[in-house]
Amino acid sequence: MIGRTIGFIGGGRITRIILGGLRRAGQMPDHVTVSDENVGTLNALRAEFPNVIIAPNDNGKAAANELVFLALHPPALKEILGEIATSLQPEAIVVSLAPKISIAALSEGLGGFKRIVRMNPNAPSIVNSGHNPVAFSTALTPSEKGELKVLFQVLGACPEIPERDIEAYAVLTAMGPTYFWFQLYELIELGKSFGLSADAVECGIADMVRGAVATMFESDLSPAEVIDLVPVKPIGEDEAALKHLYRTKLMAMYAKLRS
Ligand SMILES: NC(=O)c1ccc[n+]([C@@H]2O[C@H](COP(=O)([O-])OP(=O)(O)OC[C@H]3O[C@@H](n4cnc5c(N)ncnc54)[C@H](OP(=O)(O)O)[C@@H]3O)[C@@H](O)[C@H]2O)c1
Repeated sequence: MIGRTIGFIGGGRITRIILGGLRRAGQMPDHVTVSDENVGTLNALRAEFPNVIIAPNDNGKAAANELVFLALHPPALKEILGEIATSLQPEAIVVSLAPKISIAALSEGLGGFKRIVRMNPNAPSIVNSGHNPVAFSTALTPSEKGELKVLFQVLGACPEIPERDIEAYAVLTAMGPTYFWFQLYELIELGKSFGLSADAVECGIADMVRGAVATMFESDLSPAEVIDLVPVKPIGEDEAALKHLYRTKLMAMYAKLRS
């Protein structure tokens, strides 16, 4: 069985998200080791997950597990590949959560190690509602891929995608919540200022968002027809500026990740 022992190199946000999702589903592995160069981050993680073994400044210890998540930003990730190569067990599987660094580049940095997966996770995995596409190296067998998918599906959907699409998902689904969360929290505060209870406003916003998405994908209406369902658009005059922001900033981010 894959994943009896798990290591995370990097104990920041995405590690917390994944561990949170596994625990919420009752699937927390018995042996989890997390390394990070930031001791404060590791201590905070262990306060939340007391059974996790922390390895300050010892990436080799996290790398010596059956399933090894690389949870670092691309520049730091490139730097540590040589350092962990000798700690990897031959049958280990390495799962990189970072954009930008290809399976071929990871393999080269790891001295020819080939048992590599790339995943583009997203934050709703913390409540088992993620969208986490994966790309596998050809060194993994169909049965290993199947086992990994069973494990990953605890966190949400994990479609298998061509590796070249990882960066597109990084912009759309990994960063995606950041485009909306601040707006939805603003609506919640407004709702409360209008005199609604916190429960009522949260329920209303949750139904509104679910319903808005269902309308887009289940109504058989065109985008223009969907948008025309509501004639009053109090912030409609700023739409063009917002669309311009999306096109410029997100295109630039995608280009940066693909460069
Ligand atoms: N958060 C998400 O929702 C999300 C979604 C999809 C993909 N990812 C990917 O996941 C990776 C990690 O992202 P994150 O959000 O978890 O970032 P993060 O919260 O900044 O965590 C990264 C951690 O790595 C530590 N670190 C830096 N260099 C290190 C080294 N050489 N050895 C060990 N630890 C080191 C950092 O310490 P310092 O803080 O002291 O630098 C930090 O604690 C990135 O590639 C990101 O693109 C994240």
